[in-house]
Amino acid sequence: MEALIPVINKLQDVFNAIGSDVIQLPQIVVLGTQSSGKSSVIESLVGRSFLPRGTGIVTRRPLVLQLVYTPKDDRENRSAENGTLDVDEWGTFLHAKHRIFKDFNDIRREIEAETERMAGANKGICPEPINLKIFSPTVVNLTLIDLPGITKVPVGDQPEDIEQQIRQLVLKYICNPNSIILAVVTANTDMATSESLKLSKDVDTDGRRTLAVVTKLDLMDAGTDAMEILCGRVIPVKLGIIGVVNRSQQDIMNNKTIQDALKDETTFLQRKYPTLANRNGTPYLAKTLNRLLMHHIRDCLPDLKTRVNVMISQYQTLLNSYGEDVKDKSQTLLRIIMKFASSYCSTVEGTARNIETTALC
Ligand code: GDP
Ligand code: NA
Ligand code: MG
Repeated sequence: MEALIPVINKLQDVFNAIGSDVIQLPQIVVLGTQSSGKSSVIESLVGRSFLPRGTGIVTRRPLVLQLVYTPKDDRENRSAENGTLDVDEWGTFLHAKHRIFKDFNDIRREIEAETERMAGANKGICPEPINLKIFSPTVVNLTLIDLPGITKVPVGDQPEDIEQQIRQLVLKYICNPNSIILAVVTANTDMATSESLKLSKDVDTDGRRTLAVVTKLDLMDAGTDAMEILCGRVIPVKLGIIGVVNRSQQDIMNNKTIQDALKDETTFLQRKYPTLANRNGTPYLAKTLNRLLMHHIRDCLPDLKTRVNVMISQYQTLLNSYGEDVKDKSQTLLRIIMKFASSYCSTVEGTARNIETTALC
């Protein structure tokens, strides 16, 4: 089943390569108010520190993050991307194609610089996404999208209609029926007033692609706990409600590692929520996401196949129109593209068959 996601990523590469945008791929979009912990959740899922995080508006352009599973002996990816590469994990940006980022602190600095370049230095936002790929032997192939947080009051260079602008920007990503929405809510605010759950409900009315993530479990007032929230008794969320503990601002300043944070998260959950500990926490969130993504891809496969087939027949028509005697480069190119498309199509088909015979969950 794990084989399904690489297929989708390959498809994305093929369609990118031929400059076509015909396939809408599943992706995970993180939605929430400013400083609710969206960027922190993404970092924990990836297992590396590389995102700008902090109080106030930090994420000011969408970040489309494609995780690419790259085994240590994957020569193809390594030599194609880098010649001789001496690290196991690295990143590349679409806007700086030829630069290999081996240091994850440099990735964060590049995101900051690229944000400033397009969105200015004074809290402005820009809808143009930053595209980052991270290659690693310890990730699953996922596309995650980090978004600016929902906000109400303009600050710095933000225009009067900042709330509307961010709303439009966020809607663009969550409206996509192929996206899974991670609606982030903080444990120390009232879930019933959650903007992210409200917004996700607007676009995902029957809740088929929304998962709630409750952050800041460690910051609840003395005498309160998140039991009711986590059990879905405050607001039920069909796909689930998963509580997490990310690093605090102090932890960030102390350079606390994600590994240490994950250990502390487990300890915290076992102490504070012993009966719920195995259904919460970042590792459980990652597992749930993988499962959802696979269900989602399975549901999309029939449509995906139709689209690839349409493309094949379009190219076939084009190829036929060249006639017998024209044997130039473009014809060869078309053949290659078609070969690609049909091999992907049969992979999709095979995968669909596989999934149908495998019990999911
Ligand atoms: P974003 O604006 O939604 O992307 O939020 P960030 O990930 O940038 O986090 C905002 C602030 O909240 C940072 O200072 C984080 O350290 C802090 N934070 C996020 N999640 C948690 C959490 O679970 N517990 C604690 N104590 N702090 C958190
Ligand atoms: Na923030
Ligand atoms: Mg952020």
